Amino acid sequence: MVPSCLSGMREMPATKQKILPIRVYGDPVLRQKTEPVKNIDGRLISLAEQMIESLASARGLGLAAPQVGHLLALCIINLPALDSKHTEPLILINPKLQASDGKVVYQEGCLSFPGMYADVARPQNVTVTGLDRDGNPLELEASDFLARVFLHEMDHLSGVLFIDHLSPIKRQLLKKQLKELSATSGDKAK
Ligand code: CO
Repeated sequence: MVPSCLSGMREMPATKQKILPIRVYGDPVLRQKTEPVKNIDGRLISLAEQMIESLASARGLGLAAPQVGHLLALCIINLPALDSKHTEPLILINPKLQASDGKVVYQEGCLSFPGMYADVARPQNVTVTGLDRDGNPLELEASDFLARVFLHEMDHLSGVLFIDHLSPIKRQLLKKQLKELSATSGDKAK
């Protein structure tokens, strides 16, 4: 209707992706299970690339599709921030935990729980399989903090959140903060 206005618009640079809003605790989408990705098509890669930008903008270590409102088994791991030998974030599709051992307790947070941190016990070493952005099978071994990030993101794909790993007493201590978070997300979650 008003093409003269549109003609004045400058095109966004090709690399500039849309930043997706990250869902906060209390949003029911964070509690839903995801579906496996069936087709790695342009739409999926576009979503993954938007997730990479959103993760970078939030300065996070990992981001799972439900956190941006998509119930797909897709997550992004910020490998360069975790291990200097990597230069690119990892797009991990349909990940599966194949093996784990050891146990480490370490402080953990989540982009869906801004400002909240808690000590969480997780396996020290993991083997994870999945698909990369080209649909090629991946087998990844990780230890310590990187293992933790894999486990945390894979949990998101099953609707599991890091607070679920806390003892009832520890969770009780965070009750007020959790209530405040779920109030900001506009949901009635406990
Ligand atoms: Co998280």
